[in-house]
Amino acid sequence: MSRAYDLDRAHVFHSWSAQAALTPMVIDRAEGSYVWDDEGKRYLDLASQLVYTNLGHQHPVVVAAIQRQAATLCTVAPQHANLARGEAARLITELTPAGLDKVFFTNGGADANEHAVRMARLHTGRPKVLAAYRSYHGGTQTAINLTGDPRRWPNDTASAGVVHFFSPFLYRSPFHATTEEEECERALQHLEQVIAFEGPGTVAAIVMETIPGTAGVLVPPAGYLAGVREICDRHGIVWIADEVMCGFGRTGEWFAFDHDGVAPDLITFAKGVNSGYVPLGGVVISSAIAETFAEQPYPGGLTYSGHPLACAAAEATLTVMREESVVDQARRLGTDVLGPGLAELADRHRSVGEVRGRGVMWALELVSDPVTREPLSPYAGTSPAMAAVTAACRDRGLLVLINGNRLHVVPPCTLSETEAKEALAGLDEVLTVADRHAS
Ligand SMILES: Cc1ncc(COP(=O)(O)O)c(C=O)c1O
Repeated sequence: MSRAYDLDRAHVFHSWSAQAALTPMVIDRAEGSYVWDDEGKRYLDLASQLVYTNLGHQHPVVVAAIQRQAATLCTVAPQHANLARGEAARLITELTPAGLDKVFFTNGGADANEHAVRMARLHTGRPKVLAAYRSYHGGTQTAINLTGDPRRWPNDTASAGVVHFFSPFLYRSPFHATTEEEECERALQHLEQVIAFEGPGTVAAIVMETIPGTAGVLVPPAGYLAGVREICDRHGIVWIADEVMCGFGRTGEWFAFDHDGVAPDLITFAKGVNSGYVPLGGVVISSAIAETFAEQPYPGGLTYSGHPLACAAAEATLTVMREESVVDQARRLGTDVLGPGLAELADRHRSVGEVRGRGVMWALELVSDPVTREPLSPYAGTSPAMAAVTAACRDRGLLVLINGNRLHVVPPCTLSETEAKEALAGLDEVLTVADRHAS
């Protein structure tokens, strides 16, 4: 074993894991869509690490921008003004809908959601926040309590002021719907009812991943987001769109809510904003909410808010994405290559219950029985079948995200067509392994 591995096992404590059984892959180097382990084996990174290298690995323009910034001014405290920070904020707000013009920078996605909730509570003077069961919003205290997935359970304070609701998911409809239209209508009625029973005057915000990502790439039906906007407006509730995973080109638009032509009140972001080269997240704030804090101080901050290295990486990332039409590339990969290619795999493999996604954000729902839709592993559990799928991916040199019974295909927006075909061929073999566990 390598020194990197030995040091890791001796001293590094990993996220979300029982530590004893971990055998982390050592990654030595990376370029574009590929990474190499310490034995020189190459992997196609269909996970974009944790769904953040939207520009792929080691993009030379972003690396050079970080190097230039490091040579000029490595760091500056948040109370000062700085050009890299200002340029990053300008570029971000040029992409957001009209009226969303201010950025509060954080270190990542969880703290972006913490601050968005704090802003919404102070702006409305109300305590409660609604969030979807099928969601992940981050690992810090409020964010993990917003989260619906099982990672919340051991962290649940039962006092975070969060009420969970069911968001639309036609394949496993909580509303017994059989069409997208029914799912949309019933999901909105359900949300409306939750608000009515909680008391509209007690609800500060609805927090939603625009496309729930870790929970399964659950693309909302047409009209759902517009319905949420209308409900929020009617009740004076702040709509917080968590675009941490689905933002910055991943779905083939700059933001996932752009597909629906709607605008939230607060947008939380991280990951793709600078391809994750240096930690950065933030909240884009509507003018109405920003106005609340024009005279009244905003009671929150971070030592590294708007860190120049992270902001220089964001400025370079967004400039490259604009100049090289990277968002169009992600959209075309979805419509012309990954979408049809994954659908074709689903037709041929009985273990694939459904394929969902947009752009370069896809999930394959693996089932042991396509008729009953029994998941290949239970909710919040694992199974020998999914362990075999994970091993098959690794054997074939594919890095994917495995979550519950799903295989997430979330490559960089810059994946080439040849690489996409390589991915589809590898997944074809992996699904043959999954098929052995399906009837
Ligand atoms: C939708 C969403 N929100 C928030 C987060 C938390 O971001 P971070 O890990 O940067 O705190 C994540 C991370 O995966 C995410 O996918």
